[in-house]
Amino acid sequence: RCLQHLSRDLRLMAVIAPTDLAGANAAAAEAFPLLYAPAQTMGTDASAAWASAHRSSVQTALAQSGAVVFRNFGLASDADFDRFIQAFDWPNFTYAESLSNAVRRNRTERVFTANEAPPEVSIYLHHEMAQTPIYPSRLFFFCEQPAERGGATPICRSDWLLERLAALAPAFVADCAAKGVRYSQTMPADDDLASGQGRSWRSTLSAESKAAAETKLAQLGYSWQWQTDDALSVTTPVLPAVRELADGSRSFFNQLIAAFFGWQDARNDGRKAITLGDGGALDIDAMQTAVALAEELTVDLQWQQGDVALVDNYRVMHGRRPFEGERRVLASLVA
Ligand code: FE2
Repeated sequence: RCLQHLSRDLRLMAVIAPTDLAGANAAAAEAFPLLYAPAQTMGTDASAAWASAHRSSVQTALAQSGAVVFRNFGLASDADFDRFIQAFDWPNFTYAESLSNAVRRNRTERVFTANEAPPEVSIYLHHEMAQTPIYPSRLFFFCEQPAERGGATPICRSDWLLERLAALAPAFVADCAAKGVRYSQTMPADDDLASGQGRSWRSTLSAESKAAAETKLAQLGYSWQWQTDDALSVTTPVLPAVRELADGSRSFFNQLIAAFFGWQDARNDGRKAITLGDGGALDIDAMQTAVALAEELTVDLQWQQGDVALVDNYRVMHGRRPFEGERRVLASLVA
């Protein structure tokens, strides 16, 4: 459904004027993503006022489309972005208390750099922090500086993916839904900037000592094992792999695709990082099918300076294409 609306860039996206709210609601049901683009660039006062006045209609559009892009809103800096997102008045989800694997740097209390992994590293499609028990409901991205080449943010409707996958691999989807999954990973003692999964256990767990790390893991229901180099191997409790959404549909809410391809570094083998909740192995053929479907359904957000994207983390996966040149994309998470 709606495949005719998917494209690999923004050319086929529904573009609506920010004042055309009826148009937004009509387009959001079909467009992915939905683009709000005033004909003339707004000032930062006007963009913040617009966000404050339209937060509920944006929320409605997001619920329907899964992703919304704001272009020509006149945002240039991290402070502008911070002000714009604050105007929506949605609760912050802090990176510090998250169990994200990515190394990031805070710019403001709510704004931080997206994954600091090197330019040549692909970050594969994922739902933010779905491999942990605590995850944000929505994500904001802001393009402070687009890359010279590449660096798009691929996004994929996970509900559409699940629907297609259930038709092609029904037993696999039924297993995922019934049994959930567990994730295993090994975290270094100190941040490893060469890896997209390089956040240290000290940072991830906000723990200065091994004892404090163990206390936190026990609270979260993880099992763990220390390695000789002070790296920490952990396994999550059983987490859901399929999520029921507010409208009754379901999404492929898990980290199977990203882990399968992306969780490769000096410490980790992504193909061994996930099992079904009962310890059973994932069906590799079904995983390949999921990956191929995701690729087919993916749209690349080609950043322009000042763009903001708002993504429903329960319905939509995101990633990062490799790039050349300097790319500064900032993020902020909503609880
Ligand atoms: Fe992410």
